[in-house]
Amino acid sequence: MAAFISLIFLFVTLLHDLADGRGLAGSSHDKVIVCYVSRWSVYRPGAGSFDIFDIEPSLCTHLIYCFVGLDENTFKITNIDAFQDLEINDGKGGFKRIVALKEKHKHLKVSIGIGGWNEGSAKYSKMAADPKLRNIFIRSVMNFLETYKFDGLDLNWDYPTQRGGKPEDRKNYVHLIRELSEAFEPYGFLLTAALRPGKDDMDTVYDLTHVNYYLDFMHIMTYDYHGAWDGVVGANAPIRGQYKDDIYSIEYTINYLLSHGLTPSKMVFGLPMYGRTYWFNTRNVNDIIFGETTTKTTGFQGQFSKEDGFMGYNEICLEITNKSSLWTQHWEEHTSTPYIRDEERFITYDNPRSIANKVKFAMDRGLGGFSAWSIVTDDFRGSCDEEPDTYKDYIERFNKISDQTLLKDALISLTENENENQFYVISDKKVRLRLPKPSFANYPLLRTVNEAIFLATEEKRVLDEMEKIKTHRRNELEKGSSPCIRTCTEVCFYGL
Ligand SMILES: *[C@@H]1O[C@H](CO)[C@@H](O)[C@H](O)[C@H]1NC(C)=O
Repeated sequence: MAAFISLIFLFVTLLHDLADGRGLAGSSHDKVIVCYVSRWSVYRPGAGSFDIFDIEPSLCTHLIYCFVGLDENTFKITNIDAFQDLEINDGKGGFKRIVALKEKHKHLKVSIGIGGWNEGSAKYSKMAADPKLRNIFIRSVMNFLETYKFDGLDLNWDYPTQRGGKPEDRKNYVHLIRELSEAFEPYGFLLTAALRPGKDDMDTVYDLTHVNYYLDFMHIMTYDYHGAWDGVVGANAPIRGQYKDDIYSIEYTINYLLSHGLTPSKMVFGLPMYGRTYWFNTRNVNDIIFGETTTKTTGFQGQFSKEDGFMGYNEICLEITNKSSLWTQHWEEHTSTPYIRDEERFITYDNPRSIANKVKFAMDRGLGGFSAWSIVTDDFRGSCDEEPDTYKDYIERFNKISDQTLLKDALISLTENENENQFYVISDKKVRLRLPKPSFANYPLLRTVNEAIFLATEEKRVLDEMEKIKTHRRNELEKGSSPCIRTCTEVCFYGL
């Protein structure tokens, strides 16, 4: 019982933290929230420019500063943008400033991300294949982490065995992470990596058993399933695919990884803070069907990120907020994806509602947490109107059970005092759902992740309890020893 009371106490405290919003502490749920910060976004124009002081540490448990690289001559870890990263020559000291966030925010861990798309794969392949070069690299990493006081390394080798890599990368990657983890252990440094989610990547690129063993967390990049390159509209990050067993879906990826023995608590579910843009082939497209409606193979750009086919949520939500724009808003139920369109253009993306549904999906499977790629394209300034339907699907599920007396029984059995539950409130014998109330306007996506973790956890706890009570009652009935049945028979019998 003590454990149970302290659990309730924990929940109450958590909500206070949430309510306070920008506390110095993070949210007190036990999930990791990995916030990727891409340094190059500081160069984006106007309101799209993101600097380290725009980070909201209370919404993250881990920060990853991206990226540094691998020097192809020395095979040591090296900064790519000395002006942003260092202080020499009046540089902006990014390493020092991001690590300094830990002074006020004691819960934070800050890692350095190495690699990324522009780094390519070939030099990593060369380094990983040679024990001497691995040793040079690992010593340089240890030196780097100690010099700048980072808590760990996040590997973003894009990608072993691909893009100039070799088939042997699969086993050499294991040598590399084993040796890194052995070197890190005495110092308690964190070793994490971002992993590709495609069917063809999961097994041929990674030796999953060993990757699972040596990494502290695996950041699964559950996005980029579809984009303008397909030539048809599709969801960037569909929970379910477009047909049964569609390999281009989050469900397929996560089920595959779980069935190959990955430790759920080490799996971190990737959340895209961006969408994919498309040009229709013709004007006057009426019905949109994911996977069928044809498009050009290059998408359009956002005003800040200026990259074909890509738009940050902060850019997309400005389009929606603009009342004189011609966009109409829609929801694709099967993949759980919002999209907007006008006469010529189409964008699939993630909004608070789809993010809340992804949190539910990951929480039901006991995953370790969430990683946001990247927080620089959340609406970090709070410039946009709030999107209204964040918990629509939670509410619909709740409405299906809200009339059951079993729900009330479960709540009473879970809580000492009927009114203690923060989300399920019993009033006038009816149960109502109380939704989290945001206390500040910026970071709507990242805020939703933190809030939905509590709501999804509580929903699961209540449903499990309902199931437990139901099973218990059925067993009692079958045993025929239920006091209720006996009383009833006796009453009926004597009544006659
Ligand atoms: C809003 O949309 C209209 C119509 O597309 C456009 O002309 C205008 O520039 C937009 N305003 C902003 C602030 O983006």
